[in-house]
Amino acid sequence: MNETSGNGSSHASLRTGGALELQGVEAGYGESIILRGVSLQVRPGQVVCLMGRNGVGKTTLMKTIMGLLRAKKGTIRYAGTDYTAKTPDIRAKAGIGYVPQGRDIFPQLTVEENLRLGLEAADTKLRNAGIPESVFAQFPVLRDMLRRKGGDLSGGQQQQLAIARALVAEPTLLLLDEPMEGIQPSIVMDIERVIESIKASKRMGVLLVEQSLTFASAIADYSYVLDKGAIVAEGSSASLSEEQVRRHLAV
Ligand SMILES: Nc1ncnc2c1ncn2[C@@H]1O[C@H](COP(=O)(O)OP(=O)(O)O)[C@@H](O)[C@H]1O
Ligand SMILES: [Mg+2]
Repeated sequence: MNETSGNGSSHASLRTGGALELQGVEAGYGESIILRGVSLQVRPGQVVCLMGRNGVGKTTLMKTIMGLLRAKKGTIRYAGTDYTAKTPDIRAKAGIGYVPQGRDIFPQLTVEENLRLGLEAADTKLRNAGIPESVFAQFPVLRDMLRRKGGDLSGGQQQQLAIARALVAEPTLLLLDEPMEGIQPSIVMDIERVIESIKASKRMGVLLVEQSLTFASAIADYSYVLDKGAIVAEGSSASLSEEQVRRHLAV
C-alpha cells in the first residue's frame, strides 16, 4: 500500500507550522454562548494541556479551533494567518490535525481505508506517497489489522487508529480531545508514549484535553484550566499549583 518509498519525512521538515493564537474567542450553539472570551496560545513544538470539568466547553473549544463551530467573536490565528472565517478543510490543509473526543473512526471501513481518509487532509505530495511507514512504527498493532473493519477493533485500538488517521497528514498542530478517556490502562500507556514521542520529535504543537492532572503536569509545557467557558487559571506545569487546578477540577 506504500506505492513509493516516499520522501515524506524530508518533505515534512519543510512544514514548520507556527503558533496557534486565540484571542477573545466566543462561541456556542445557536443562541447559547458557551465560550466566553477565550485567549490561548500553543507555540510550535509545545504540548499544551486544556483541563476542566465535564461540560465547561473543552470540546466546544476544540471544535471552534477546527472550524466545525463558528467563532461569534474573537480571532483564531495559526502561523500568522487568520483562520477565524475559514472552513475546517482549509484549516486541516494548513496543518491542523484533529482527533475528536470519543474516537469517531468509520466502523464500516477497514483500518487502511480509515487511514487513507486521513490523507485527504494532506497535500498532493504526501497523498501520493501513501500511508507513511512512521505510522506503523508508532502503532504496530494497526499494521496487523489493515484489512479489519474499524468497528471490529477494541476501544484502545480505535483510539490509536483515530490518532494515526490524524498523523498521516503530518499535521504541524495536533488537537487531541481526551484521548485516554474510557481506555484500558495498558493502552493508556501506549497513547501516553505516542504523545511523549510527538513531543520529543518537536515536529508539531499539541493541544491536549486531559483530565488526569498527573499526566498533564508530566507532559505539558503549559496548561490552561477552563471553567464555564472561560480560562480561569493558566501557567507552566510548575507554576500552576495543584491546589489551584484541583479547585477548578473538583466537582
Ligand atoms: N451540539 C450541541 N448543542 C447544544 N449544546 C451543546 C452541544 N454540544 C455541547 N453542548 C453544551 O455545551 C457545553 C459545553 O460542552 P462541551 O464543550 O462538550 O464540554 P466539555 O468538553 O468540557 O465536557 C455543555 O453545556 C453542553 O451541554
Ligand atoms: Mg469534551
